Amino acid sequence: MNADIDRLKLPAETVLILGAGLAGLFLALRLAPRPSLVLASSPPGEAASSAWAQGGVAAALSKDDTPDEHLADTIAAGDGLVDAAAARALCEDGPALVRYLAELGAPFDRDAEGEFILNLEAAHSRARVARVGGDQAGAAIIATVSEAARAQGSIEFMFGWRAVSLIQREDGRAGGVLCADRSGRALALEANETAMALGGVGGLFAVTTNPTGARGDAVAMGARIGATVADPEFVQFHPTAIDVGVDPAPLATEALRGAGAVLIDRHGERLLPDDLAPRDLVARAVHVASQSERGAFLDARAAVGDAFPQAFPTVYATCVKAGLDPRSAPIPVAPAAHYHMGGVATDKDGRTSVPGLWAFGECASTGAHGANRLASNSLLEALVTPARAAERLRELDPPAYAPAGVPEAPQRPQAEALVSLRAAMARHAGVARDAAGLTTLIEELERLAKAYGPFNAALSARFIATGALLREESRGAHARSDFPAKSEPAQHSFLRLDRDGDIVAAPAPHFPPSAVTPTRAI
Ligand code: SIN
Repeated sequence: MNADIDRLKLPAETVLILGAGLAGLFLALRLAPRPSLVLASSPPGEAASSAWAQGGVAAALSKDDTPDEHLADTIAAGDGLVDAAAARALCEDGPALVRYLAELGAPFDRDAEGEFILNLEAAHSRARVARVGGDQAGAAIIATVSEAARAQGSIEFMFGWRAVSLIQREDGRAGGVLCADRSGRALALEANETAMALGGVGGLFAVTTNPTGARGDAVAMGARIGATVADPEFVQFHPTAIDVGVDPAPLATEALRGAGAVLIDRHGERLLPDDLAPRDLVARAVHVASQSERGAFLDARAAVGDAFPQAFPTVYATCVKAGLDPRSAPIPVAPAAHYHMGGVATDKDGRTSVPGLWAFGECASTGAHGANRLASNSLLEALVTPARAAERLRELDPPAYAPAGVPEAPQRPQAEALVSLRAAMARHAGVARDAAGLTTLIEELERLAKAYGPFNAALSARFIATGALLREESRGAHARSDFPAKSEPAQHSFLRLDRDGDIVAAPAPHFPPSAVTPTRAI
């Protein structure tokens, strides 16, 4: 415990929100007028994956669509592991929340009758993705929600602070965060309710579409105070990151394939009979081709052609910057770590297994995405769970403050440690995995934590590697070359950190008063 750090106790009813991506900002907005403090390393939109989302928000918005059909597609894509109650909440609450965003001013694309223009994306049985400016949904939605949040007198912001560790009270309840600014100054912020909306894990891999700061901090911070982690091995690889040697890798949205673009090799042969198959299948086909002399390319010449600059301005600008013209040449693509289905285990309202600790958006695992998230359900979840939680939090009276010590902060990772970690994760925990590689990876992660001192990225990476080693089957985004079949029945994995720092199997988490219905733990 660390006695020398400055401490600040937030007013009893203030909710501390870690992260200023869509989930964190939307929670703050929906909580108003209950006060909240949003703490983040950068202002909204600068370091959040949600601001980079191109496709849009999936929701049953057209007259001929229903939440039940959206649910059926979500369950089918999730490959046996979707928690039906969490997914139902997503699909049923979604349409009203997208309309609420539109009322706030989000400039969704509309047709002449004023109806949403909806994109088709992989594994959706119909066009269902509400878009903005073709491929600019994430940035536009974040801008709208951020402006609305800033207009609320009940929301305070602290930017330039990075959450490093959670505070735990003597009674076991989460009690706030230890954070640090760029100069290394540390501050302990005590709060009665702490909500993590810290994004995913793509930055743990050498090739990712995420901001490189997305390194699983929430998984590591939550696990250190006893939170159960669910299904950490399920990392989704987006099949069409633009392969021009840029870090992070720019995305070529799936909506391009929805518009008819096809995946081909350098000889012009199609990689797949169905370019809109679930993302895990497409990612594997692209991985195999891009590892061979065939190469993998996204060909939008016939389907989009001269309309490219207007229809997909973000992708077009990226291509031009890289010296490519997608109107006349196929775009080189490779799979990239894109989305974490696993994360801190929560119920469908965002409660974790630790009292006073909540998790939202990509850092949480509600179970709604199962083993493979359906396209554009991520922005949707960043709206739905925070909106549900805001209702619950408004009903809660703040508990009395209890004594809490301030933990020692884990190390800030050094650049060379991260380079080694990201290379090892890409090599051994990428699209194709096996026991030998995963064992080597865990040894390497332990070596890095010893050499550089414990750091959050090494711990969250170790959760992914351990989950992947324990899951001796191939399912959804998790493909084991040594266990190519599925084992039945489908099971979630629940893991925790024990007192010796080992990652061990955990019982199915309990989230009083409502609970997900888990299957058996491995
Ligand atoms: C995309 O536009 O392809 C990404 C959308 C998503 O990840 O859901």
